[in-house]
Amino acid sequence: MRLLFIGDIVGRPGRQAVMGFVQRKRREWDLDVIVANGENAAAGAGITTTIAAELHSAGIDALTLGDHCWDQRGFANEIDSIPYICRPYNLPKQCPGADHLIVPVGEHKLGVVTLLGQTFMKLKSDNPFNAVSGLLRELRKQTDFIFVEMHAEATSEKVAMGWFLDGQVAAVIGTHTHVPTADGRCLPRGTAYLTDAGMSGPYASVLGRDIGAVTLAAQDGLPRRFEVAENDVRISGCVLDLDPKSGLCTKFEQVFEEV
Ligand SMILES: [Fe+2]
Ligand SMILES: [Fe+2]
Repeated sequence: MRLLFIGDIVGRPGRQAVMGFVQRKRREWDLDVIVANGENAAAGAGITTTIAAELHSAGIDALTLGDHCWDQRGFANEIDSIPYICRPYNLPKQCPGADHLIVPVGEHKLGVVTLLGQTFMKLKSDNPFNAVSGLLRELRKQTDFIFVEMHAEATSEKVAMGWFLDGQVAAVIGTHTHVPTADGRCLPRGTAYLTDAGMSGPYASVLGRDIGAVTLAAQDGLPRRFEVAENDVRISGCVLDLDPKSGLCTKFEQVFEEV
């Protein structure tokens, strides 16, 4: 089974690029399932029901979120009605939204889980290492593959999660920093690992936002609107070949493509 993961989709430039990209690549790359992080899809902060529906109908099978999941007003009241999106698993239990997804892929089932890191993250969350073990026991009974996204700022937290879950899940792929890292590979026990998938959006920017506004704010500290930038749009993520017998990864390929 071949899975494409797409890192944080940023604003309209990211959405438009990603929608065209997945429509072209599904056939060209023989993709079976496409998972994308949509936490920055709406004007760079959060997602809306309409935008989620657009991305889904373009061919993204499952959408994940991160610390920006509640940024769009009212979305917390709507998330429960969207069957193809999940919020981070280790948010407080009373938060709305699915805390994981089970996605049918042909005759197989893919579990999708996002974990929030705890270093430099404002949202309240439970310890992701302690939280994930119980869920995996259940998901292993119900799925053939488990895709884990580690949405975290600290590289150490993400690297540790990769080793913690090596051999237990198909992949541990990092998101959130919007900068792709060069350490993607299959770990010794068969789990695909990447510290950060990078963002899918404008790279002539500071993490997706207008360079001028961010560099001015870096100098004077005054509050400013950071508009989503527009240029040098790239799709960032990875393609994973997964073995249905073992549920593990046989091949990791990084994606970082200008569109
Ligand atoms: Fe993000
Ligand atoms: Fe984030």
